[in-house]
Amino acid sequence: MLITIPDVLTAAEVAQARSTLDAANWVDGKVTAGYQAQSVKENLQLPEGHPVAVKLGEMVLAALARSPLFMSAALPLKVFPPMFNRYTGGGHFGTHVDTAIRAMASTGQRIRTDISATLFLSTPEEYDGGELLVEDTYGVHSVKLPAGHMVLYPATSLHRVTAVTRGARVASFFWIQSMIRSDSDRTLLYDLDTAIQRLAKEVPGNSAGVQLTGVYHNLLRRWAEI
Ligand code: NI
Repeated sequence: MLITIPDVLTAAEVAQARSTLDAANWVDGKVTAGYQAQSVKENLQLPEGHPVAVKLGEMVLAALARSPLFMSAALPLKVFPPMFNRYTGGGHFGTHVDTAIRAMASTGQRIRTDISATLFLSTPEEYDGGELLVEDTYGVHSVKLPAGHMVLYPATSLHRVTAVTRGARVASFFWIQSMIRSDSDRTLLYDLDTAIQRLAKEVPGNSAGVQLTGVYHNLLRRWAEI
């Protein structure tokens, strides 16, 4: 499932992130790329553990924690500390799949990357190119979102970022280990949760809502790894 989560960050938070990031020292993005990805990756990143990345990463994590849509869609167990990248001057990232297991530099704790996340920090008008293209069995999806909006997609997907031919594309990117490993199981739970929320709003007090909520939690109990 590919899902867009609007307004994860407020306009003020985006502005704060951008002013800090625009003044930061960036390094070659190949530092965190695996063997295959190194040959196709041309962008800049903040190193893991960089004070700016740590501070802004905490802001992103706090924003995720207040997003019911993120919680429902991702059912997160662990979230990798958010990282930050910048594409400019033809920078791009060719087709690749994200590394399956990552260790956090700060703690050494390992995370299985079930879901990939990109949180856009540039407005689409600021740059040309820079589309995130995600492949699934229904074809290729092109993603370019307003600043502060985020996309979640299965980390199992082949994906790439097209060359930025004007301006700069700044984003936060990270991974989530979900309590539900399977994308299709997670999608079922998300669809069920969404239907329950709609039922509660459109037919308040309907007793079927309680029963369906029970089904949701009992499926979660059956499938969740914690
Ligand atoms: Ni990737």
